[in-house]
Parts: sequence; C-alpha cells; structure tokens
Amino acid sequence: MAPDNALDALLHENRRFPPPAELAAAANAQPDIYDRAAKDRLQLWEEMARRLDWDQPWDQVLDWQLPYAKWFVGGKLNASVNCLDRHVAAGRGGKVAFHWVGDGERDHRDLTYAELHREVCKAANALTELGVKAGDRVAIYMPMIPETVVAMLACARIGAPHTVVFCGFSAEALRGRILDCDCQVVITVDGQYRRGAPTPVKAAVDEALLECPNVRHTLVVRRTGGDVDWDAGRDVWWHDVVDGQSDQHQAEAFDAEHPLYIMYTSGTTARPKGILHTTGGYLTHVSATHHYVFDLKPDTDVYWCAADIGWVTGHSYIVYGPLANGATSLMYEGTPHPGDKDRWWKLIDRYKVSILYTAPTTIRTLMKWGAQELEPYDLSTLRVLGSVGEPINPEAWVWYHTYVGGGRCPVVDTWWQTETGGIMITPLPGVTTAKPGAAMRPFPGVSADVVDNEGKSVPNGSGGLLVLTEPWPGMLRGIWGDDERYRQTYWSRFPDAYFAGDGAKRDEDGDLWLLGRVDDVMNVSGHRISTTEIEHALVGHPSVAEAAVVGASDPTTGQAIVAFVTVRGSVAEDEAGGEQLVESLRNHVASTIGPIAKPRQIMITPDLPKTRSGKIMRRLLRDIAENRELGDVTTLLDPTVTEMIRDRMTLGAED
Ligand code: PRX
Repeated sequence: MAPDNALDALLHENRRFPPPAELAAAANAQPDIYDRAAKDRLQLWEEMARRLDWDQPWDQVLDWQLPYAKWFVGGKLNASVNCLDRHVAAGRGGKVAFHWVGDGERDHRDLTYAELHREVCKAANALTELGVKAGDRVAIYMPMIPETVVAMLACARIGAPHTVVFCGFSAEALRGRILDCDCQVVITVDGQYRRGAPTPVKAAVDEALLECPNVRHTLVVRRTGGDVDWDAGRDVWWHDVVDGQSDQHQAEAFDAEHPLYIMYTSGTTARPKGILHTTGGYLTHVSATHHYVFDLKPDTDVYWCAADIGWVTGHSYIVYGPLANGATSLMYEGTPHPGDKDRWWKLIDRYKVSILYTAPTTIRTLMKWGAQELEPYDLSTLRVLGSVGEPINPEAWVWYHTYVGGGRCPVVDTWWQTETGGIMITPLPGVTTAKPGAAMRPFPGVSADVVDNEGKSVPNGSGGLLVLTEPWPGMLRGIWGDDERYRQTYWSRFPDAYFAGDGAKRDEDGDLWLLGRVDDVMNVSGHRISTTEIEHALVGHPSVAEAAVVGASDPTTGQAIVAFVTVRGSVAEDEAGGEQLVESLRNHVASTIGPIAKPRQIMITPDLPKTRSGKIMRRLLRDIAENRELGDVTTLLDPTVTEMIRDRMTLGAED
C-alpha cells in the first residue's frame, strides 16, 4: 500500500486514471457507444429498452411535449416481472438476489430470486386482499430489511405506486407525504435496529395517522418484537396476512407510462415535492445505467450499493436497476459508526464484493478512520468503485482509488438527482480516463450543457449552470398534484432546457465538474435538505421570532446546517438558558423533519442582517458561518449586526 505522502503526489501531479486494460477489453460499454449515441440517441435508448421483457412493444419511442415526455408509447410491461419472474423463468431462480446483513453481527439472510419472487407474489396477493388496486398509493416507512424490497415490488406488481419515506423522518414529515399523495395503506415495522439497539417505528406511524383519515390499513412487519399500540380496525400484522397467501400471482402488464412511484425531495420552499416516476422509461434508464456504468457481470459480480432504500439511490440502484439486471447484491442494514470501524471492509471481504457504490461523506468518514482499518481484510475482489450524492473532493477520490480499490479499480463519480431517476453524468469504467473530482461526460443518450445566466453555452474552461437539453427515459413525469410547480421549478429558468439547480464547470477538455447547488438546497452527508424547510420548522417553535439557515462547508458531511435565530420576548441571558433553548430548538427540528435535519450549530442573535427592503442576507451569514471575509455589505440596513453575530460566533467557538 502506498504511504500517505504518495496520496499528495497523486494529487499534485494532476494525474489521469486510464481504465485498466483488462477491464476495458471486456467492458459492457466500449468507446463506440458514444458514437452510436451521437448518431441516433433514440435508437440507442430503444436498444437499452430491449434489454427488458415487454408484454407489448411500443409504437413510438418518445412523445415530447415540453415539459412532458412519454417514452415507449404504447408499450406494456410489469416492473416486478422484469425484476423477478423473467430471471426465475430463465433458470436463474437459485441465484442469490440479496445477501442481507442486519445491523447486528448475527443477523443475516440470503434471498434467492425464486424466494424473493414467492415473497413478492404473497405480498401482492395480500395487498389485493386489503383492497389495494392499480393506481392506489401505498406509503412504505421501513428500514433496510428484505421486506422493504418485497413491499415495493409487490406494489409495482399490482400497479399501486409506492412512496417510500426514509425511516429517519419524523411523524410529521411522514404525515405530510401520506396526505400529499393520499395514501390509503401504510406498510411499516414495529421497530428497527440502530447500532444494535431496537428503536420504535410504528409509534411514529400511529402519530402521523391521527390526521390521515383516508388510511384504511397499516401492514406491520415484526422486526424487533417491541411493544406496539394496536388499532384493531386498521392494523394488521404482515405475518398474519402475507405468510398464508398463495405464492403464485399472475401479474398484469401496465402501460409504459403507468406511475411506478413517488419520491419526495426537498426543494427551495418548505414543502417537499412528490417526484413522479413511471414504469418503462425509468426501468430502461436504471437497468441500462447499472449495466454500463458499473460494468455489471451478473454471473460473477457481487454488487453493494450502500445507500438507504428511503432515498432515490436505493430505489434505482438497490432495487430496480440491479434486480432488472439479475444482479447479486449485498444489502446492509447498518451505517458506518466509530464503534465498528472495520465493518465495511469485513463485509467486502466476507461477501467478496466486486462493485461498491457509496457517497463521498462515507468515503471521507472511512478515510478519517484510516487505511490501517482495511489492512487485515482481502479487498482484492473489488473491481469498480462508484460515488454519488455530492461532489467528491479529489483527496477522497484518490484515497478511495488507492486504498479501497488497491490502485486498480476505476472510480465512477455519478451525477444525478431524484428527478432524473438514474445516472446522467458519469465516467464509463472501461472507456473513460478519469480525473479525480470530475463526473466527466453525459451518459450516452443524455444531453447536458453548462450555460450562463442567459442560457448561452459557456466555452471550455468556464463555469455556469447545469442544464439537460433533451428528455431522457428516467426523467420525472411531474410533481405529484402540482403541474405549475413542475414548470416553475425546472422549466421556467430557461425556455427549452431542464434546470438542474447545480453549478458546473466545463474544463479545457470539455469534461464536466459538478460544483454543488446554486439554490437554497443544502447537501448534508449526501442528503438533500432545504434551508427553507428548516427555517419553517424553527419559526414553528414558540420561542422563535425569525430564523435563517445556511449550509456551511464541513470536512466530513460536505455541508453542515447552521441556523441563526432571533427569539420572541427574552431568553434567560445566562448561558444555561441559552444552551437549553438551543437544545430544545435542535430537538424541535428533529421532531418536525427528522434527525438528519438537526442543525450542527444554532446561534441566538438579537438581529439578522437584512437589506433595506427587509430581505435576510444569507450570503453574509454563510460567510460568517465559514469564518470568511464578508462579501459586499453595502446593501445592509445595519452593518453592525454582522459584527455582533461574528463576535458571538467567535466567543462560542472559544468555549
Ligand atoms: O447537487 C447535486 C448532488 O445531489 C443533488 C441531488 O440530490 P438527490 O435528489 O437527493 O439525489 C441524490 C442521489 C442521486 C444534485 O442536484 N449530487 C448528486 N450526485 C452528485 C452530486 N453533486 C456532485 N457530484 C455528484 N456525483
């Protein structure tokens, strides 16, 4: 292994990382794929769609009425059949779909494609018995356990769009999502394990449902065996209604544009957006990108996407992409934590993982714990490494490549969003000569550009805003119940291009570097969190008059949440009074949104910096939070305010 100063050498040499010859020679994507895309991108997408099984072929590839796209028009298919039945029918039923590993050491379970198929058929029959029909929405509020995948595929099988809500979200956040898309059934668990300890989950569902009169049933998986309150008219145990069902289920083929799922994501207002994905185009996009970007060889690879199913990465690259491709995956319930620093390396060694897909924040955490943690383990099975969720800094990229990948594995830095459904900008492991920190090129068939404020393409060597200039199969089909917001958010900034909300740079070679959000959305540990949503939560606290939230850069989490608040009336001026209030505000944010939204720091200040027209100048607060020189202050109403806040921050830091 290279000594630490070798990392510096790799960085400072501005090194390029060409694909390893052996991998390149046999890679799923060969260099000509870019030429084929340039010649006829729709034909290439059709070729990718033919990797799936269709009950009825499409008669038109794309119907584009900006901003609404229909892909594979007239085609019919079933997503669950594509993920399961076709592999079983082809004799691959005995192949492992998931090596599932629980949070605790002893918990593990292998599920073959045939077993998963049977479970999904039973769950589909149970949902039908509970009255769920095609088109009905089902909320899933579950941790990383096999039943979560079963629940999703059972919904897909009967054409009921699911909305999976990350299990770390609060009861209030869950309720907002259930109400927004009017779910009638919620699938959940009694509790979940976090770092070995059981914690309740159903209690949050009970609380959420106090104000969701349309929810008829909750279907509850027993995970921890903890005590739960029970509403006999509404709640049913999974083992009571699923286990006894027939394991046969004749799936119906749905229109290519039939809704598959809704995933809520933060935007620039306090209300999350329900991003709608449909069936044929989405499944084409995620299965093709999974095949080409990770160079998946389903017969020999063991693939591990270490995201949570509660986010889009889990939907596309734990569930739909890998299963459509017949992959064998590792699914791990836990997250890295200091009490178990070598867990990841142990898992890679034990399960002979060959493809790893994770977020830069995790890479930086593992990097902080040191390369010595890896040494006892055999990581030589790894051959492709992926990164997603936020810009990866070159230091983390090079560490990942050098220590985790042993210097021999291509690193694919994949840029995409909940809205894009699948990977959009990425290296191809057998083709691209990678640059640490760059997502490089649009995936073949995807059209992206970097433009200035007027929408003009910028020359090489310049920065600007990232736009997508042609529709793509996995694109969102709208925001649930809010067409106007869909147009406003993505299609109003420029007349004929999708506005992604990210800054980007095109370097001298024309390669793309993603620079982070240009709107009020923060990226904390790869989680997308709205500053407005947190401000909204803070002003909902009886003691808060005004709140301003900014994302300050953080060496591990990418960005960290820093809040500035003014209080109503007076707070006990002594330190204990202030500390108590700060703690109660942090807990208030956690219970309104979820623990992931807890601010790292909350400053109670007598005033906030405002312009003469009364707008809070968040830009200056960001400068203060990052301890930088203040930018232009000429429009400030009262310049002494920033000085006062800065003094308080410094005092706080010295404490
Ligand atoms: O800012 C970009 C960042 O994450 C945002 C999308 O977040 P979300 O919808 O939660 O989806 C995350 C997983 C796909 C983007 O607007 N982002 C995602 N991947 C990258 C990235 N920023 C830089 N480089 C990436 N590879």
